[in-house]
Amino acid sequence: MKDLAKEIGSIKRLFAQALDTAKTPHELEKIRINFLGRQGSIASLIAQLKNLSVEEKRTVGPLLNELKTFAQQAYEKKEQKLKHANIKQKQLQQKHFDVTTSKYNELRGTQHIYTQVIEELENIFISMGYDIADGPEVETDYYNFGAVNIPADHPARDAHDTFWIEQNNMLLRTHTSSIQARIMEKKKPPIAVFSPGRVYRSEATDASHDFLFTQAECLLIDKNISISHLLATARTFLQAIFEKKDLQIRVRPGFFPFVEPGLEIDGSCPFCTDGCSVCKHTTWIELLGSGLVHPNVLKSGGIDPDIYSGFAFGLGIERIAMIKYGINDIRLFHSSKISFLDQF
Ligand code: PHE
Repeated sequence: MKDLAKEIGSIKRLFAQALDTAKTPHELEKIRINFLGRQGSIASLIAQLKNLSVEEKRTVGPLLNELKTFAQQAYEKKEQKLKHANIKQKQLQQKHFDVTTSKYNELRGTQHIYTQVIEELENIFISMGYDIADGPEVETDYYNFGAVNIPADHPARDAHDTFWIEQNNMLLRTHTSSIQARIMEKKKPPIAVFSPGRVYRSEATDASHDFLFTQAECLLIDKNISISHLLATARTFLQAIFEKKDLQIRVRPGFFPFVEPGLEIDGSCPFCTDGCSVCKHTTWIELLGSGLVHPNVLKSGGIDPDIYSGFAFGLGIERIAMIKYGINDIRLFHSSKISFLDQF
């Protein structure tokens, strides 16, 4: 009996100690199971009661009862205490919640400005009945020069600042006019093709020149094609890309070996009528190199110049985008600068 009384005392102490160190609801629940649970240490003390004599029961019984009530009350008290501590902690967290703080922006991808402008242009030309064509960037001397009426000794080659490849007279194409003869070889008139793509020029870079840029070639060949078709097409697409219905064009003579006559086409400034920084206070912006396809080029493509005629023009994609979106440095296009690309 003495043992049981002793055990009651030591369980009381152990219980009080355990309760004292418990810090979480989980720890508290463990204590409840170990001491107050159906198979806990207090229950097993109670189970031993039946082995005692009536006399003994009289002394141990009240001790056990006292332990049970004590444990129950102490447990509930601790439970309340932990609950309050938990609420306080949450309040403290909320107190430090800064509603003015901001999270980092997610890095969201967009279509590159090149792609956007090219797609816009392609849609305009598709709406006018054109096909979209592609050509190789690593090109032969023939398609880049020879086939477009720039033979080996022609001085126009010097203006092209070509990146030559040390193999088989190959080069990085210097203009998209290199696709002209390729298309004519494959397709017979009527031909109506729009062909955007990268071109390369080995020249010093500055805000308006880059060694890599993007052009697009527009080529139309059929019977009785004249300059009026060229001008109407150029005006229509410039009005569409700059979203300006009353955009006007003007022409100046220009020289390109692959056209005769050759014309430079300017567009009226989309932003002003009396001069601004975009048009350098002239109200006109140089936009296209163009002309009627030279008979020699038609011949290179296997097309009879006595039956067919055509026009071609070339445009700089970056130049169009720079004017349209107010971009002031062509090198930004392939700079991979997120702050630049993000804007579009
Ligand atoms: N290929 C010329 C250039 O790169 C542009 C052009 C294309 C001119 C078609 C006339 C006709 O400058």
